[in-house]
Amino acid sequence: MTCRDNRFGPREMKNLAPEMKTIQSVSEMKEWSRSCSGSVGLVPTMGYLHRAHLDLVQKSLDACDATTVSLFVNPTQFSPGEDFENYPRDWDGDRARLETMGVDVLFMPDTEAMYPSGFKTNVEVQEVTRRLCGATRPDYFKGMAVVVLKLFNIVRPDKAFFGEKDWQQLQVIKTLVRDLNLDVDVQSLPIVRDADGLALSSRNEYLNPDERRSALALNRGLQAAREMAASGIFSARSIRDRIREIIEEEPGTEIEFISVCDPESFVELDETGDGALIALAVRVGKARLIDNCLLENAKCKSPF
Ligand code: PAF
Repeated sequence: MTCRDNRFGPREMKNLAPEMKTIQSVSEMKEWSRSCSGSVGLVPTMGYLHRAHLDLVQKSLDACDATTVSLFVNPTQFSPGEDFENYPRDWDGDRARLETMGVDVLFMPDTEAMYPSGFKTNVEVQEVTRRLCGATRPDYFKGMAVVVLKLFNIVRPDKAFFGEKDWQQLQVIKTLVRDLNLDVDVQSLPIVRDADGLALSSRNEYLNPDERRSALALNRGLQAAREMAASGIFSARSIRDRIREIIEEEPGTEIEFISVCDPESFVELDETGDGALIALAVRVGKARLIDNCLLENAKCKSPF
């Protein structure tokens, strides 16, 4: 089925939402994209969709003539010992949610389709990938960059949509697009939080009720950082120390990093200012959680 068939078929003429097509094969996905005359939006995901994913999907539906959501738990972005096997999966629930929203295509390749035997290529965005998450997850950004580039080549989207919770991932993708002259407009949406302040993440599924209570310290730490910056405290060290105190008060938390840094290069700052990024990675039980905020209205000595 081509893109045009899908959008202007008999269901559409009867005012029914067009049926969502599920595609597993790379060649069929390419053929569908080639047949699209209008703009195509792509929302790349690893599934187990939550509200933040669905907001990205809605943004794509609003901005583009056709929307493809990819659902692929990408093995190359997990290092040995990480949670690839246990990553939460709910294919049927995801499919139902996307179909209800009016998504045109769900692209669900299997590992063999994306990485056939003999696959040898690496994609590395340098420097920015060595800091923050890259320091402890050596395979993550290479695996992520290769799969995102493959998805861009297969789906050929005009626009692609990512969440800002993984701020570093977003910057790596923007760098990849800029450096390789890719014809994709990368758009992002702010972090979505539950009512208690926890940033939405598929990995929140790993948290038991006590761990979830402890995990709220991430957002409290960021809130404290914002307040310190707004009250004129410039010292990045004082801000890091305060966040550390707030997180360490909670049982079962293990801090991986607390960073006060430039939002594009991720170089650590001595003094904060408007636009500085505060980024956190903390293990709580089996979950590795990340969160961040950009400082706004900081009373700053050194704005960038
Ligand atoms: O953010 C994610 O879910 C993944 O890293 C992505 C972008 C879908 C690539 O596998």
